[in-house]
Amino acid sequence: MADAATETDFGTEPEALLRERVQWLDPVRPVLDVGAGVGRNLIWLARQGFRGHAIEADPDVAARLEADAAGLPLAVYRCPFQVFEPVERYGAVLVFGLLPLLRRDERDALLSLLPRWTVAGGLVFLTGFTDRLDPGRWPGELAPGEICELLPDAELLHHEEEIGPEHRHGDGPAHRHAWARAVLRL
Ligand SMILES: C[S@@+](CC[C@H](N)C(=O)[O-])C[C@H]1O[C@@H](n2cnc3c(N)ncnc32)[C@H](O)[C@@H]1O
Repeated sequence: MADAATETDFGTEPEALLRERVQWLDPVRPVLDVGAGVGRNLIWLARQGFRGHAIEADPDVAARLEADAAGLPLAVYRCPFQVFEPVERYGAVLVFGLLPLLRRDERDALLSLLPRWTVAGGLVFLTGFTDRLDPGRWPGELAPGEICELLPDAELLHHEEEIGPEHRHGDGPAHRHAWARAVLRL
């Protein structure tokens, strides 16, 4: 995804799900953001005192995140998550907006890596789109409720689904997203 699209799709404010549940995070452990984009979530967390690691496959987007992260306790890995090798275990992993872009095999690969990347009891924050609007639009769209079952051994701490507000990206057409959001404890 291009950097401009990343910014206009998701804005510059942190994900509300993260802001509302930041107190659930272990302040000692770093947070991993998979498909971090331009870093709206990790940069906000770093300013709250958290350490973070970003995985971002698009080199231009990762370079921009690196520049914006200067002076903050953040490390940026410019690679796809498929080749990422963690050097420590995370207290929480953020997967915001990446699931819709992933094919089923890619999604399964990511989900299978999460328990190895986190401490026992680590948290996983997930957002994606369900197929309630425009089925087939996104390769990785979920069935309603499916987000709760993506990590069957995890404890579901939070789940919500909604049709989001109508919006536009630049001059593009007005549209809405069918959101699914969950927080799970591994
Ligand atoms: C829709 S954007 C979401 C960005 C960010 N998580 C946010 O909430 O603002 C998805 C991001 O995932 C990145 N991405 C796509 N496939 C990836 C992969 N296999 N590994 C790492 N990053 C990937 C894209 O380059 C893009 O920046």
